[in-house]
Amino acid sequence: MKPVKLSGIEACVFDAYGTLFDVASAARGAQDALGDGWQALSDLWRLKQLQYTWLRGLAGHHVDFWQVTGDALDFAMATQKLQDPALRERLMQLYLSLSAYPEVLPTLQRLKAGGMKLAILSNGTPAMLAAAVSNAGLDGLFDAVLSVEEVGVYKPHPSVYRLAPARLDVAVEHACFLSSNGWDAYSAKAIGYRVLWCNRFAQAPERIPATPDAEIADLSVLPEILQRA
Ligand code: LAC
Repeated sequence: MKPVKLSGIEACVFDAYGTLFDVASAARGAQDALGDGWQALSDLWRLKQLQYTWLRGLAGHHVDFWQVTGDALDFAMATQKLQDPALRERLMQLYLSLSAYPEVLPTLQRLKAGGMKLAILSNGTPAMLAAAVSNAGLDGLFDAVLSVEEVGVYKPHPSVYRLAPARLDVAVEHACFLSSNGWDAYSAKAIGYRVLWCNRFAQAPERIPATPDAEIADLSVLPEILQRA
């Protein structure tokens, strides 16, 4: 990944799940019950969760991300022949207290100290996002924590991405969007953000419109890359 600088950036807009918060930490936290199958369950849970957002979006059948997350967990548990309501409840509660990636807190603190506006823009419900932010010790760092529930449709609908520049009162080209989800990064680029794809999992480039400005391996490099002037 070649070094890059983005200038004229006034705000950073972060995806939540997979970017700030480690979604695998939920199933990892129940390894004692899930055994070696925890990773497969985690991967299928996440895959179905995203699929259900897109399927519901296309069909016009919106329900919130807590419902979708539970439905996806039910699918993943059924696939593994797990019938255990207490374990389901435990996994859902773990989803409210996901671990933040280790570089997240110090990086956000540095960006904020440098005068950068910070926001979350996520599929998560307001309650899910508030729980995750608080459990990870990130309270007070964000100028806005924005949920798709404000527009009632999931990413990558353009109306979702337009929420953050409007709320932060920043022109979209002066906002940098950060996501580890390639499809999310590409979709933000398509509506005019500057975009860094935090490609934590070394995934292949997507084949959808618009290409992020650059890729980074984690968020720790942001204070070096992002320049306000
Ligand atoms: C989110 C999902 C896409 O937080 O990770 O919006």
